[in-house]
Amino acid sequence: MSLTPIGEPRQKITTVTLREKKLQHQAITCLTAYDYASARLVDEAGIDIILVGDSLAMTMLGYDNTLSVTTDEMLHHARAVRRGVKNAFLVVDMPYGSYHLSPEEAVRNAARFVKEGGAEAVKIEGGEKRADLIRRIIDAEIPVTGHIGLTPQSVNVMGGYKVQGKSLSAIEQLMRDAVALDHAGVACIYLEGMPRQVAAMIRAEVGTPTIGIGAGPECDGQVLVFHDILNMTFGTPAKFVRRYGDAGALITQAVQAFRADVISRQYPSDKESYHLPKETQSALETVLERKRALRRVR
Ligand code: KIV
Repeated sequence: MSLTPIGEPRQKITTVTLREKKLQHQAITCLTAYDYASARLVDEAGIDIILVGDSLAMTMLGYDNTLSVTTDEMLHHARAVRRGVKNAFLVVDMPYGSYHLSPEEAVRNAARFVKEGGAEAVKIEGGEKRADLIRRIIDAEIPVTGHIGLTPQSVNVMGGYKVQGKSLSAIEQLMRDAVALDHAGVACIYLEGMPRQVAAMIRAEVGTPTIGIGAGPECDGQVLVFHDILNMTFGTPAKFVRRYGDAGALITQAVQAFRADVISRQYPSDKESYHLPKETQSALETVLERKRALRRVR
């Protein structure tokens, strides 16, 4: 049974579809999902790319940042999402530490995301300095998506979550990063936390699709975090977040209503209860009546 109406039959989204969309100036949609239910809902709503982002460290696991989440934790979520996705292109984030130690280990971990997590691509943060590594992973037949600008795994180096690319030298570096990733053959590049003018220049410069988050409207596509668009994150949202629903309020309301019904014994009703078959009920009454009669005699 599907929870959401399924519209037109959809085509499977691949790296080729993403390139075609860029060429045809069709906007690419991307959302994060971290479990089976959210993956099904997002997939059936027609989103092009589902990203099992390492943002799950915060949204699902309650960590303060993305640095603590492990490869095994990412795999656990990736497998659940895989079971819920039919048509979207499934990208899984490589977490901090999974590609930083050696290229061999990076390729081994990327292969785990494909073999064990069902990923169709992995995502790696960083530009120019990751280009050779990205080539190695692509050589192992694993599509890679890039991520530049505000890269949350570098939070300690950046000194906080700050918009990047605000000076001429920073813009030049971002352009070099984007071109290096493009030449390495990435399936798309996520552009996070940068002035829209810079994102627009990158989009015009590279052949690969650019997917923005806090990078303005000129990108080839946009990504947001599932929990952010549904008000399921706690705290003040970033400037670029648009809320499309209030699942937080809906869940709170439903949970409070359930609690009140249980306390006032309004739940469950007779309709929500199972009943004995009529014959068993009357046999039971006879047995009980006999027991009561025996007790009266004694
Ligand atoms: O982890 C994540 O959710 C991300 C996107 C927001 C790009 O990396």
